Amino acid sequence: MPLATIRRLAKTTGFRLALWYSLVFISSSLLLFALLYFPLRSAILEKDRNIILGRLNEYTMQERQRGLQGMLAEIRFEDDANSQAGFFVRVADPTDQSLIVTLPPEWRHLPQGFSPLFRSGGGDDGWISLPAEGRGDVLEIVSRRLDSGYLLQVGRGSGERQKLLENFGRIFAGIMVPLIILGFVGGFFLAFRSLLPVRDLIQVVRSIDIGKMDVRVPSRQTGDELDELVRLFNTMLEKIEQLLTGMRAALDNVAHDLRTPVTRLRAGIETALQPGNRAEVLREALLDCAEESERIITMLNTLMDISEAETGVMKLHRQPVDVASLLAEVVDLYQYVAEEKGVAVSVAGSSALTVMADIDRMRQVIANLLDNSLKHTPPGGRIELSSASQAEEVLIRVRDTGAGIPAQDLPRIFDRLYRGDHSRSQRGLGLGLSLVKAVIHAHAGSLEVESAPGQGSIFTLRLPAGS
Ligand SMILES: Nc1ncnc2c1ncn2[C@@H]1O[C@H](COP(=O)(O)OP(=O)(O)OP(=O)(O)O)[C@@H](O)[C@H]1O
Ligand SMILES: [Mg+2]
Repeated sequence: MPLATIRRLAKTTGFRLALWYSLVFISSSLLLFALLYFPLRSAILEKDRNIILGRLNEYTMQERQRGLQGMLAEIRFEDDANSQAGFFVRVADPTDQSLIVTLPPEWRHLPQGFSPLFRSGGGDDGWISLPAEGRGDVLEIVSRRLDSGYLLQVGRGSGERQKLLENFGRIFAGIMVPLIILGFVGGFFLAFRSLLPVRDLIQVVRSIDIGKMDVRVPSRQTGDELDELVRLFNTMLEKIEQLLTGMRAALDNVAHDLRTPVTRLRAGIETALQPGNRAEVLREALLDCAEESERIITMLNTLMDISEAETGVMKLHRQPVDVASLLAEVVDLYQYVAEEKGVAVSVAGSSALTVMADIDRMRQVIANLLDNSLKHTPPGGRIELSSASQAEEVLIRVRDTGAGIPAQDLPRIFDRLYRGDHSRSQRGLGLGLSLVKAVIHAHAGSLEVESAPGQGSIFTLRLPAGS
């Protein structure tokens, strides 16, 4: 594997996770080893010492029962067997001259004059440990002063014990080392696999281009947290894409809708600039220009209002607003237009309902809804504004017997600058309902519409009831 690939792998979260897990695993194994090894070692040492003491007691007994000579005879008799069994036996007279020394084969190499070494532990049942030079084992010796004043020493090499412990260590390592390697490789593989969605995510984020937002992270349908993250990320991308498309469409619409009044404005100016114009022509051209400028200003102001309301920046001067008087006030404003058109407008519903709202904005909302109804209701039709309370909400309804809205238009009437086909002949910017919706949302309320072509429309506002 090339060095660069190894370096890249070593930097991955999968590798680091596997490394951490392996370190924890190795530390726990070492702890387990220590917890088993040391008690095992002292248990074996205890057992060894008991065997040595057993032999010492046996010879002491011999000395008591058969006298010193009897004991010496027994030790001589057992010399070979003792040596083969790894026992060290020494009897020394009161001046510490060795009478008998039995040495196990592995201790025969001891340097000349080793016997003085055994004297150091001369006390009653005193233990000495004599390490073998250059070898790991130790000769454990216990000394006892006999009744006759002679010194009896019995010992045994730790070779067997050492071998047992070494074997234990070897078996432990033999199990643990492959387990650790397997754990590391397996852990790395599993971590690498479970982080696949994150790598997909990184790849998608890298490939995202503002102009091309249709890429999505493939979901592995595992139902885990990463899968949830992928799902949420895709949803977020979807929303951003929708938002961008909406913004682009809104910008296109604004540009398109601005072009008409600006073109008319220019036409008016050109007319006014023509030489030899009479005063009335000039005046009319300027009036047209003023009207078109007004239209542009209204459009830009409304667009700004919508943006402010949607982003939560709009300043709302909330105060208790009496709904019945608000409706009556707006109807009053439009009474003249309604009479002109031959449409009956009425206010119904419970009085004494209050909402906490910005009165100017609410007036604008109701006026927009009534304006729409008036535009789309033919002479002889009826418009009813009503209010009611439901649970913790106040409902305001504007119902008309007008043209209604085709089902395919319903989802779009709240879009900025959208105007239904049948409205082309009417004045308007297509911003009224967008503003109504944004303002109502800014008041923590909602807006619904029910409509069918030829059967009129019902717009319902829901606002939290005020105190
Ligand atoms: N009461 C209604 N009856 C029938 N159609 C309606 C009604 N209210 C709204 N519409 C449809 O919804 C579209 C959007 O309405 P909106 O108020 O946003 O724009 P507008 O009235 O055309 O222009 P503006 O309100 O900016 O002067 C209208 O063009 C119309 O097609
Ligand atoms: Mg309108």
